[in-house]
Amino acid sequence: MEKSILDYETLALDEGERALVIIDQTRLPGRTELLHLKTQEEIWEAIRKLKVRGAPAIGDAAAIGMYLAALEAEGAEEADFFQHLREARAYLDSSRPTAVNLMWATERMERAAEGAKGQGVAAILEVLRREALRIKQEDMDICEKIGEYGLSLVKKGDGLLTHCNAGQLATAKYGTATAPMYLGQKKGYGFKVFCDETRPLLQGARLTAYELQSAGLDVTLICDNMASTVMKNGWVQAIFVGCDRVAANGDAANKIGTSGVAILAKHYGIPFYVCAPSSTIDFSAQTGADIPIEGRPGEEVTELWYRERMAPKDVKVFNPAFDVTEASHITAIITEWGILRAPYEESLATLRKKCGR
Ligand code: MRU
Repeated sequence: MEKSILDYETLALDEGERALVIIDQTRLPGRTELLHLKTQEEIWEAIRKLKVRGAPAIGDAAAIGMYLAALEAEGAEEADFFQHLREARAYLDSSRPTAVNLMWATERMERAAEGAKGQGVAAILEVLRREALRIKQEDMDICEKIGEYGLSLVKKGDGLLTHCNAGQLATAKYGTATAPMYLGQKKGYGFKVFCDETRPLLQGARLTAYELQSAGLDVTLICDNMASTVMKNGWVQAIFVGCDRVAANGDAANKIGTSGVAILAKHYGIPFYVCAPSSTIDFSAQTGADIPIEGRPGEEVTELWYRERMAPKDVKVFNPAFDVTEASHITAIITEWGILRAPYEESLATLRKKCGR
């Protein structure tokens, strides 16, 4: 039987080859090409160019990136080793600014190494290897939990809508926004899923529609500007999206266009759920205004997916990769610790205590 995209690991550590193995997501759905990345520079470039993408997967990749970077200083004295690790962290952190899972993972790796200070470089490397694999395993477990909580919010036969790709390809497994869909499919819920294509990089069309269809779900692809129509028609009972960073007041940054979907959902009285592993919460950001929003090249809008350029030469382009959905438009935030409701300052503060951050 032919291998499905879901049979591939989104990312893995090849210990023998000392490489991060990823599916090059810029080639999907046309080609499934695995890349073996050995250096910090290759991993930085893969994150920047969205070959590996989605907040949790970026964190997992950066954690493995930190381990591989540490291996580069295998023969060094401890002091030089730590200097090398600090530099690798700053470098990897600079690959993309919005998904806080990136900085969360590299910080956690450096902290793990600090905890083994004085034990010698070989022992610290082993700590780093285990921590990187733990981060990836936790990502899978968290997605499963989000799937269970998410499924408790919907009914058999519901129409669901999602934006961008918060799927298996954005995590180590299951996805966040897609986890309730996959779990529901296993349990015979018979969901009908609408995927926004997600201009300009088409993560919804190229990745979400592809992985859900490969899994055998009933999936319908729509252009972003058709979301209002499917909601008005009564075809959508709940919306699940992922996120890249949640502020302490519940404002949540996700792929550009998400805030518009939330506003539409409120207009039509449809619940709008943000699926957020706790690693996506940035307690140091008071509100969405504190979240850095990545700007990307104009060519992604004017020509990237077209056979020929589709906009006048030299036209000004505004291409923010993310927007912030105000907390007041979010029905609930689904985490591995449970379902959070407004007021989010309080529910997030309680979660912070529980997870000890
Ligand atoms: O630019 P991308 O493709 O990395 O953006 C991805 C998203 O916006 C996802 O919705 C988000 O990272 C959550 S992934 C579980």
